[in-house]
Amino acid sequence: MTRHSVQTQPVDGQKPGTSGLRKKTRVFMGAHYLENYVQSIFDGIGGVEGKTLVVGGDGRFFNDRAIQVILRMAEANGAAACIVGQNGILSTPAASHLIRKRGTDGGLILSASHNPGGEDEDFGLKYNGPNGGPANEGVTDKIFARTKTIDQYHILDAQDVDLGAIGTSTLGAMTVEIVDPVADYADLMEQLFDFDAIRALFASGFRMRFDAMHAVTGPYATAILEGKLGAAKGTVVNGTPLPDFGGGHPDPNPIWAKDLMDAMFAQDAPDFGAASDGDGDRNMIVGRSQYVTPSDSLAVLAALAHLAPAYSKGLAGVARSMPTSGAVDRVAAAKGIECFETPTGWKFFGNLLDAGRATLCGEESAGTGSDHVREKDGLWAVLLWLNILAVTRKSVKELMNDHWAEYGRNYYSRHDYEDVDAGAAATMMDGLRAQFGTLVGKTFGPLTVSSADEFAYDDPVDGSHSAGQGIRIGFSSGGRVVFRLSGTGTVGATVRVYLEELETDPARMDQDAQEALAPIIAAAEEIAGIRAHTGRTAPNVIT
Ligand code: G1P
Ligand code: ZN
Repeated sequence: MTRHSVQTQPVDGQKPGTSGLRKKTRVFMGAHYLENYVQSIFDGIGGVEGKTLVVGGDGRFFNDRAIQVILRMAEANGAAACIVGQNGILSTPAASHLIRKRGTDGGLILSASHNPGGEDEDFGLKYNGPNGGPANEGVTDKIFARTKTIDQYHILDAQDVDLGAIGTSTLGAMTVEIVDPVADYADLMEQLFDFDAIRALFASGFRMRFDAMHAVTGPYATAILEGKLGAAKGTVVNGTPLPDFGGGHPDPNPIWAKDLMDAMFAQDAPDFGAASDGDGDRNMIVGRSQYVTPSDSLAVLAALAHLAPAYSKGLAGVARSMPTSGAVDRVAAAKGIECFETPTGWKFFGNLLDAGRATLCGEESAGTGSDHVREKDGLWAVLLWLNILAVTRKSVKELMNDHWAEYGRNYYSRHDYEDVDAGAAATMMDGLRAQFGTLVGKTFGPLTVSSADEFAYDDPVDGSHSAGQGIRIGFSSGGRVVFRLSGTGTVGATVRVYLEELETDPARMDQDAQEALAPIIAAAEEIAGIRAHTGRTAPNVIT
């Protein structure tokens, strides 16, 4: 086996977004593309000489090929060891846990999350640091800077490693340890939650449907729900991970998990439904005839987490991304705990979790998590819900009604305009910025604007400043609209419009969300001119 240094030159556009670098799979498969990025990560983190890295991904097309390249490059760059999930599989939260549990120097996670997979779909790669969380901006800036100057990468000439065989072997001078991707993660879940109580719930006849969407959580959910907790066989559907996710879009929301929604609104619906995404960090929660928005789910979990053993002493604080609804803020205020508002992207929660300032955090985009790992965690959220259902023995609908009666209801929806011309999207955002000085006090139907600004964040732990994190317009009703451009898309620009209205009148808590939000939706269009700028008459996706 020999090591090579391959001369290369920078390729454009290797700027990591909200969660690492995401591109079309064929782009990653192009000559030197993956290699350049992997070498840029290694160089950007100060080299990998003598380091141990966790490597794994969501099993999408090219996952295994890319891992073979990463292993050969890690060896040639002097890494001491790589810990790899069997067959290249690790859910994102399981990878985060493994990085922390084994005290490694970080890891490489191969995933484009909820984006479709396949040769003509999407691929992604990100580096997580020794705390198990996505690299912070300082590190990703260094990686990006290196992509612009890279001139060579190092790789070992070698046969493929057998990713199927659990155990330890060597690749050149590097140790390769292939591990069961589920075992450590399942142990962690058992420590956090009252598995006996959940077992008793299932034993009482409680029925659940978990849709793994042909993505990475299939083996995790089957082992934990059906294996350890005694849920009926067949509780997990679409449980076999496929390289193209069965041609589906593994994003757990009412649009892409429509099968689950239909099942949960049918006559013979199970008691509880849930789904997770491509790499297992997102979750969707739905009761019988009761969808729970991610923002509401975060609020309910914050209110009731103390019913699970790991959180029985209460929460240090909570955090939510800025576009996430203010429902959790109301819980935090009632409990007298801190509530942080961060920019979009899980990496912004890392410092708060590390510093013990926040215990739970979440995003409106179906991400919920806690300080048990440094990623959002789909199955964790599902298990916390199950723990709460097992202790309270209430239905999801009852829990939601109780929650709204106590804290008020934040009606919420996100409207996405995908693959919009990037210039047009930027012009629309500039048009909004130009109105900051004149909007306050203006009325739009029943609404009066009370604030207008662009969100910037000063990290309370390390003092770093992040500007340009979304435009927010507040109304005196307690409602709000936020405009933001996506950082994870792979084609054109995606405009996200986040809409929220607060309702505290118990008689008005049972409305359809789009109806309750109609005045805000109309105001958003009037202020931003979304139609005129994007050329679209309606959003592509409403969640
Ligand atoms: C989206 C979500 C964001 C999430 C990210 C990664 O990013 O909106 O909350 O952290 O995916 O899962 P966006 O495309 O909006 O930049
Ligand atoms: Zn994901």
